[in-house]
Amino acid sequence: TTKIILDLDTGIDDTLALSYILASPNAELIGVTGTYGNVIVDHGVANDIRLLKMYGREDIPVFKGIDHPSTAESFEVPPDSAIYHGENGTGNAEIPAQSDRQAESQSSVDFIIDSVRKYPKGELVIVPTGALTSIAAALEKAPDIVDKIRIVLMGGSLTQPGNMNPFTEANISQDPEAANALFATQADITMIGLDVTTQVLMTKEDTQALRNIGTPVGHFLADMTDYYINISEQEDADNFQGGCNLHDPLAAAVALDPTLVTTLPINLMVETEGPQRGRTIGDPTRILENPKNTKVAITVDAERFTKRFMERLLTLAQT
Ligand code: BDR
Ligand code: CA
Repeated sequence: TTKIILDLDTGIDDTLALSYILASPNAELIGVTGTYGNVIVDHGVANDIRLLKMYGREDIPVFKGIDHPSTAESFEVPPDSAIYHGENGTGNAEIPAQSDRQAESQSSVDFIIDSVRKYPKGELVIVPTGALTSIAAALEKAPDIVDKIRIVLMGGSLTQPGNMNPFTEANISQDPEAANALFATQADITMIGLDVTTQVLMTKEDTQALRNIGTPVGHFLADMTDYYINISEQEDADNFQGGCNLHDPLAAAVALDPTLVTTLPINLMVETEGPQRGRTIGDPTRILENPKNTKVAITVDAERFTKRFMERLLTLAQT
């Protein structure tokens, strides 16, 4: 099994990523850490606590992360994110569970540092699916973890246009400085960007199969994801592919099974100035240097992934 920490801005596809990890027999989720993006940190963490309650997994601790970008005093959810994920983050579908549980008092930054130090190299993978502020902060606070940390992140794009603007993907756009600092380290990073996540879809056939199970979990997952499919069609009709992209679940799946994608090793940077602010691009000053610390996923076995994803989700929804 692989130990996993999910760093989520929960979020519709974040919820699907959490569900996938909980449904995977080869994963051990040791903690959920909250970042911002689709929602503010407090809101994402509250969603995580309710989702874990819904799945009967209140044994899994939840930690709060840094709640604003490195270059700002505070964070407000961009209007686009509120539209795509709904005001509550779960497409206005109500999570069918309530909980009084609070986040742990330890910060996500310290939990990540302690966890990387605790487990032998290769046993733990951190999966960030929102703003990278806390992950970059952990590496800055504890530079010794750089040789041990393994990160499979959802964010960025090397070969495709962005989804915030033609240059920028949402997660990287939230804190380009943090992302740039992270890519500049020698940490072992796999980037699951729009290059591959736009190739994996969930359709209304899939959501109907979940609904047909007849459980509250099945109904919730189906209603939430239908919202995402509908909004994807409404907001971007010209590029609608017949479903919604499974951005965050693909990163979670690659953390457990790297053979789902092929990757290009490269030293990356993030533009922090001008109209291309937030763009992930090869770092010209390190482009010929070895080792190349980031592996950018370029192709994906979409069929193998989506089949496994739906099988596991359907099993989970039966409970
Ligand atoms: C990413 O941005 C967020 O909206 C999604 O949850 C995903 O992590 C896609 O660009
Ligand atoms: Ca996300």
